[in-house]
Amino acid sequence: MNILLIGSGGREHALAWKIAQSPHCEKLFIALGNAGTSQHGENIKINPTDFEAIKKFVIENQIEMVVVGPEDPLVEGIHDYFLADKYLKSIPVIGPKKDGAQLEGSKEFAKRFMQKNNIPTAAYQSFTIETLKEGLAYLDNQKTPIVLKADGLAAGKGVIISNDINEAKKEFTEMLAGAKFGKASTKVVIEEFLEGIELSVFVLSDGTNYKILPSAKDYKRIGDCDTGLNTGGMGAVSPVPFADETFLNKVEEQIIKPTIKGLKEEGIDFKGFIFIGLMNVNGNPFVIEYNVRMGDPETEVVIPRIKSDIVDLFIGVASGTLNEKTLEIDPRAAVTIMLVSGGYPGDYKKGFPISGFDKVQNSLVFHAGTTFSEDKKDIITSGGRVIAITSFGKDIKEAVEQSYKNAALIAFSGKYYRKDIGKDLM
Ligand code: AMP
Ligand code: GLY
Repeated sequence: MNILLIGSGGREHALAWKIAQSPHCEKLFIALGNAGTSQHGENIKINPTDFEAIKKFVIENQIEMVVVGPEDPLVEGIHDYFLADKYLKSIPVIGPKKDGAQLEGSKEFAKRFMQKNNIPTAAYQSFTIETLKEGLAYLDNQKTPIVLKADGLAAGKGVIISNDINEAKKEFTEMLAGAKFGKASTKVVIEEFLEGIELSVFVLSDGTNYKILPSAKDYKRIGDCDTGLNTGGMGAVSPVPFADETFLNKVEEQIIKPTIKGLKEEGIDFKGFIFIGLMNVNGNPFVIEYNVRMGDPETEVVIPRIKSDIVDLFIGVASGTLNEKTLEIDPRAAVTIMLVSGGYPGDYKKGFPISGFDKVQNSLVFHAGTTFSEDKKDIITSGGRVIAITSFGKDIKEAVEQSYKNAALIAFSGKYYRKDIGKDLM
């Protein structure tokens, strides 16, 4: 079948690499894709939220499956758009409809959902401009650190953790009254701070059945030892050693099963990935957040560890037969190191030629922010996160060493990467 993959980052390169290996895949198109995805299919110039243009392309190119990488098109209703169109409604979309996408699109929806389904999560209250005063009074009675979350999508920037109640009150007021995060902060969730180690668990669901994909840990801060500004993610490791069988059983019983059941009870037919951000608090899992897509750079370690045909799994998602599909996981450890542009996550320059691809051995090179130069001769940088280098190893240490060996061989002006990925887990 012909498949359209939506998105253009490292996540989408890893998905494109995997989808293209499937015997079910005849032709793969990626919108917009990057220089790396063009090794596995044809990049097309269609904006992920331009549903009209996507419709035209899907009909003209006899697309039989659409796989959605990022959250924006899901939250904006790409799946609903397909279902409402007489020409598109029979074409499966891998990714939830608007109702399911609220798990990521609205923090308050996610918190209410967890509370209703007894899913362990931090205590919270949510407020709007009408209840600003109550919110300030509520903050007066909270301990620090305290967590403020803009309700809507804020490009990963909508969470503020404050160590001072007065500062938190100022931020809270700016979010609600000053529209600090625009429309995303018309509602604000105030949440208890959870102390522990973070990890993520990924689930693929057909609305009734589910498969638990490998766990992963990402490294969000720009600097070694988790210092400096937050980024989209500077590296990832899978599996997570402390997520042992006992812990993962708790995750399945206390979180995954009630999540799938709860969605069904709300009448939400969730077909796609659920990314569960967890805090391990003294051996007990608490949900920090849901995302309705795979993570980036987590995908770059999770997807390579899946040995089964991913398109066959997607067919199971679309037809509600995921229980009949097998999921085989590579037992080896996988580690990815993100090479980023100098200055990221602040201002950075783009357009620098990237060299050294031919020198890399025994690693997977996933492109994130890359494109071709105008004369098509060079691959050049086009984003903050540029290249993810994924390696396998018998353990994390071996995989990390392999990725660092190759990270040194890829060159572009201003290249930066963290030197401590996986260190805390060895
Ligand atoms: P999010 O945008 O929901 O991923 O939140 C960003 C980051 O804030 C998370 O990855 C955590 O590191 C942190 N965070 C969010 N909620 C909490 C919480 N309740 N307790 C501690 N840290 C949190
Ligand atoms: N790496 C975190 C995310 O994709 O949201």
